[in-house]
Amino acid sequence: MEAIKTALIAGGSGLIGKQLTKVLKERGYRVYKLSRNARKQGHVQWDPRTKQVDEKYLSRIHVIINLAGANIGDRNWTSSRKQELISSRVESTIFLSELAAKMPKLVYYVGASGVNCYDVHQAKVFQEEDEYGPDFLSTLVRDWENASDHFQGICPYMKLRIAMVLSNRGGSLNAMKRPVFFGLGAPLGSGNQYHPWIHMDDLCRLILFGMDHQLEGTYNAVADCDTNRNMMKGIAKYMHRPFFLPAVPSGIIKFFLGERSMLVLSDLRVSNDKIKQTGFEFKFNKLNKALKALFSK
Ligand SMILES: NC(=O)c1ccc[n+]([C@@H]2O[C@H](COP(=O)([O-])OP(=O)(O)OC[C@H]3O[C@@H](n4cnc5c(N)ncnc54)[C@H](OP(=O)(O)O)[C@@H]3O)[C@@H](O)[C@H]2O)c1
Repeated sequence: MEAIKTALIAGGSGLIGKQLTKVLKERGYRVYKLSRNARKQGHVQWDPRTKQVDEKYLSRIHVIINLAGANIGDRNWTSSRKQELISSRVESTIFLSELAAKMPKLVYYVGASGVNCYDVHQAKVFQEEDEYGPDFLSTLVRDWENASDHFQGICPYMKLRIAMVLSNRGGSLNAMKRPVFFGLGAPLGSGNQYHPWIHMDDLCRLILFGMDHQLEGTYNAVADCDTNRNMMKGIAKYMHRPFFLPAVPSGIIKFFLGERSMLVLSDLRVSNDKIKQTGFEFKFNKLNKALKALFSK
C-alpha cells in the first residue's frame, strides 16, 4: 500500500485543525486545509453550501480529516442556528464524499463527530453501539455520522465521537478558566454531573493512530469522565485561585444559555474500552495529569 503523505483537513483553521496540522507536519505530511476563507498558504478555498472548491490539489490527497462545522458552543441555539449547526456538518461531509471521486490517491477518511449523542436520561456508561438520544445534539450527531457513511465503498473510514477537548489554546478549558481567573470559580449546577474529556495531544495521536492502523467504525474519543466540580476545582488549583463559592444553580445557567446549557449541565459517562482494545493508549488518562501538563506550558 502507498504510504499516506498528503492530508486534507476540512475546517483545518479551527482549534483542533491547527494543532493537528502541526502534528501531521512533524510526521512528514503535506497538509492542505479547506477553508471558506482561504487567505493563508496551505489553505484551499471551498464553500460546502454552494459546492465550490479549488480543485487543483485534490488529486494529491491521501487522507481527509473532516473537522468542519459551525461552532456548537458560541451562540444561542435559535432554530436558524440549529439548522446551521446541522447543515454545516452534513452538507460539508456529503460534499467531501462527492469530491472523493476526484481523489485517485484517497485511502482513508476521518469524520469528526461528538460524544453528546447518547440518551443522558439513562444513568449508565455509554458504549458506541448504544442508541442515539432524543435531544437536538444527538440528532445532529446521528445526521452527521450518517453523512460520513457516504464514504462507504470509497475508502476505509473512522467516525470519532470527540469529547470536550482540553487545550490551552481555546475551547471549553478557556471558558472554564475565565471565572476562575477572577476568583469566581464554582461548580456549575449540582457539580456532580460528569463530563467526558480528552487532551488535545491525545486526540491528535488518536487521529494519527486511526490513519496508521486504518481503523474502521465509530469510536468514542474520550480519555476519562470527571465531575464538573472536580474539573472546576482542578482548574482553580492549577491557576492558584480560590475555590470556595457555592455552586451556580442550574436555573441561572439555563436562563443565560437556554437549551445550550445542556453542554454544561448534562450528566454523561462514556466508555473508551473500544478504542483501548485496538491498542491505543491515552497519554493523559487522568484529569490531574492532563491539567498539570496544560498549565505547565
Ligand atoms: N473542540 C471540542 O471540544 C470538540 C468536541 C467535540 C466535537 N468537536 C467537533 O470537532 C470539529 C472541530 O472542532 P474545533 O474545536 O476545531 O472547531 P472550531 O474551532 O469551531 O473549527 C471548526 C472549523 O469549521 C469551519 N466552519 C465553521 N463554520 C462553518 C460552516 N458554516 N460551514 C463549513 N465550515 C465551517 C471553520 O473553518 P473556516 O472558517 O476556515 O471555513 C472552523 O475553523 C467540530 O465539528 C466540532 O463540533 C469539537
